[in-house]
Amino acid sequence: MTSTDKVKLAIVGLGNIANMHLKSCAELNNVDLVAVCDVDKELADKTAQTHDCKSFYDHKELFDSKIAEAVIIATPHFHHTPIAIDAHAAGLHILSEKPLGVTKADCEKMLNAHTDKSKIFAVVFNFRTYPAFVKAKEILASGELGEILRVNVTATDWLRTNAYYESGTWRAKWATEGGGVLVNQCPHHLDLMQWLAGMPSKLFAVCKFGHHHPIEVEDDVVATFEYPNGALGIFTTTTGECPGRNRIEISTERGLLTINNLTELTLLRNEKSVKDTLENGGVWDNPWPWKCEIPVAPNDDLFARALRLNLKSFADAVLGKSEPLAHAPEGMNSVELANAMIYSSLLNQPVELPIDAQAFQAKFDQLVEQSQPAATSSA
Ligand SMILES: NC(=O)c1ccc[n+]([C@@H]2O[C@H](COP(=O)([O-])OP(=O)(O)OC[C@H]3O[C@@H](n4cnc5c(N)ncnc54)[C@H](O)[C@@H]3O)[C@@H](O)[C@H]2O)c1
Repeated sequence: MTSTDKVKLAIVGLGNIANMHLKSCAELNNVDLVAVCDVDKELADKTAQTHDCKSFYDHKELFDSKIAEAVIIATPHFHHTPIAIDAHAAGLHILSEKPLGVTKADCEKMLNAHTDKSKIFAVVFNFRTYPAFVKAKEILASGELGEILRVNVTATDWLRTNAYYESGTWRAKWATEGGGVLVNQCPHHLDLMQWLAGMPSKLFAVCKFGHHHPIEVEDDVVATFEYPNGALGIFTTTTGECPGRNRIEISTERGLLTINNLTELTLLRNEKSVKDTLENGGVWDNPWPWKCEIPVAPNDDLFARALRLNLKSFADAVLGKSEPLAHAPEGMNSVELANAMIYSSLLNQPVELPIDAQAFQAKFDQLVEQSQPAATSSA
């Protein structure tokens, strides 16, 4: 492999997730880490030394240096929008950490700045690499199960303590985190839901703000959906219960697909379609489901593998060899779902999708204005 087969990559933001991306860089043969950047100078220098690359403390200086052709944005999410807009202006390929932005309006700004479509703009979504989800997507996309009749996503295994919320002064504040469980813990589930079943056309949500913790933002959510074909769905999440559940159920004409704990895929396959049974069955007839064993690739090292595959597919896309796992416009969908749930809850009424990004932004700005500054500065 020659150096032209490697993407000259920089990483902006060198915290938790950047450590995983740095590990991937060392393992992949299609990226060449040329620079790292963090507002924490000591951290930037130390990381650069360890990984034998250049350090920067300001993303604009990094971009102006032209040392890199692609950048991973791994800063806290409020910084994704300005940094991505600057990266577009500098002509860089971008892999943004999830969530793409905090609000749909922010995402639109980032997408509007992506004028040179020869540059890749992608988002990291771990679940798109998990074998059970990949298989579920394959089965649904094949059409063999027919229309989706119901979607039920339960992501309630996110218990977080008060100490967790106090561990960073930016946490759980509208002004600095932009939301709670929907923004921090759930982007992967929200992306998965729309990746597998498409976007709903309408939703009604009840978000409880500070229900289980003394925080401003949502920590308990139930949302009901309606899809364009009339199918209904439910999404439930919280950071305040235990034991929680991590379960996705998609009911279709030809059976029920379930993914439990991110890894266990089962299909209860109907011998005949529900529609056929409803229309032509006898008084007590039934589509007679049976359990199918579905082979799924091994679930080793899911998290590290997910980040490696996201970066690999991004770099391959930059090299013109394939598509990234998630293009940025798809990344806006999970942000829109989170925004729509908060919006519906604040309005106490159902909202149609796509939502009016500016109308939500106005509501969101009010929340930010009322946001309480941190009492202490512990991290
Ligand atoms: N894909 C995943 O599984 C996954 C997991 C965790 C976090 N994330 C996402 O990754 C992002 C970062 O999360 P984290 O947990 O690594 O955060 P973190 O707080 O551990 O690290 C963020 C780093 O960014 C630096 N930073 C802040 N503003 C900056 C700026 N303007 N320029 C340069 N550096 C800046 C901070 O100094 C810090 O070192 C978030 O969007 C988060 O949602 C994704």
